[in-house]
Amino acid sequence: MSSTNNRLVIRPAYAADIARITAIYRSHVMHGLASFETEPPDDAEMLRRFTSIRELALPYLVAEADGVIAGYAYAAVYRTRPAYRYTVEDSVYVDQEYVGQGIGSALMPALIDGCAAAGRRQIIAVIGDSANHGSIRLHEKFGFERVGLLPAVGYKFGRWVDSVLMQKAVGGGQRSTPPA
Ligand SMILES: CC(C)(COP(=O)(O)OP(=O)(O)OC[C@H]1O[C@@H](n2cnc3c(N)ncnc32)[C@H](O)[C@@H]1OP(=O)(O)O)[C@@H](O)C(=O)NCCC(=O)NCCS
Repeated sequence: MSSTNNRLVIRPAYAADIARITAIYRSHVMHGLASFETEPPDDAEMLRRFTSIRELALPYLVAEADGVIAGYAYAAVYRTRPAYRYTVEDSVYVDQEYVGQGIGSALMPALIDGCAAAGRRQIIAVIGDSANHGSIRLHEKFGFERVGLLPAVGYKFGRWVDSVLMQKAVGGGQRSTPPA
């Protein structure tokens, strides 16, 4: 699950990466509408989330540009009730300094492959803000289809915020019987 593009390396995240991941996420929580969190989680909470994802063998990846973690992506449980167990929700966050430079596009194929390898069948993107053109385009580019819009389900920075729902089947999707 690792690929190299000159100076860009996609690799699994390790616990030692969490401080940098926390810092990237913190900025998006504080200044962006992609995340509906309003208080940035600390390293301990981000490590707890990382551990729970890895315990399920779901992918948690970082993109290193010249040795610096420029972005990260993971897949987590979509909803906890058991019938949802073959469905995951993805998240991709790129450091503000690196957005629009192909980092998200480099992470996405490995993330999708990791979900399929973990036996999952559907990936859902719950995209904060209808105007999040970067995330919508990134997901379209990798075969996600827009399947819904939840208008005004968030309230952040003094305004109502939509969720855009996008979805991609992996591992044969509904045509394949899932693993036991
Ligand atoms: C969304 C995000 C992960 C995309 O990562 P990225 O590294 O900036 O994306 P890329 O540079 O690989 O670009 C992916 C595609 O989106 C397009 N794109 C990127 N930013 C865009 C923008 N602001 N508006 C329109 N299109 C945009 C690119 O042109 C590219 O499409 P193309 O290959 O057809 O030209 C990143 O911008 C980010 O972290 N945004 C804030 C957090 C967020 O929204 N995360 C997603 C949560 S679901």
